[in-house]
Amino acid sequence: MDFHDLVAGRYSVRAYGPDPVSDADLAMILEAARLAPTACNNQPIRLLAIRTAGRQDDLQLIYHRPWFVAGPLVIGVCTVPAEGWVRKDGKNHADIDAAIVMDHIVMQATELGYGTCWVCNFDVAAAREVLHLPEGVEPIAFTPLGRPADQARPKVRRDLRDLLLEG
Ligand SMILES: Cc1cc2nc3c(=O)[nH]c(=O)nc-3n(C[C@H](O)[C@H](O)[C@H](O)COP(=O)(O)O)c2cc1C
Repeated sequence: MDFHDLVAGRYSVRAYGPDPVSDADLAMILEAARLAPTACNNQPIRLLAIRTAGRQDDLQLIYHRPWFVAGPLVIGVCTVPAEGWVRKDGKNHADIDAAIVMDHIVMQATELGYGTCWVCNFDVAAAREVLHLPEGVEPIAFTPLGRPADQARPKVRRDLRDLLLEG
């Protein structure tokens, strides 16, 4: 799949089949995460690869939509803000790093034929508790990972003219 097809073909998958993710595919997806750029190469990132089998009830406390746990895996991206690069105006870039990491995960998964859906509207306290996150580690985003069991919808996006500013 060329890059444009990958970008155009990715969509938020909100229905998953039970087929497993092979160890080789999971390794490739996590490697794509590892290779993501981070500000100043600080790599203030921690990853979670959670098998849903037997943990659905706990995981639903983090995000209640049934499709969140319908696939075989949930992937989480966390930051360690204390490791993030901080610009001189005080802006910590760890969240930006996490977004790039998650996008690498999503794109590599898409290329391998898996579905994903960014999930940020989760219960942070539940995530901390269920996943036993240590102090200083912040959950930023999750995605289910599995074979899609729905169809892509047409993309709704603003016109490019509405995005371009005259600098
Ligand atoms: C940072 C971010 C957070 C998101 N959080 C959620 C979420 O919590 N739940 C959800 O169902 N979709 C979530 N989404 C998916 C968006 O709704 C979706 O990407 C957007 O509507 C565009 O649709 P598409 O991904 O199918 O192109 C999130 C997407 C992003 C980029």
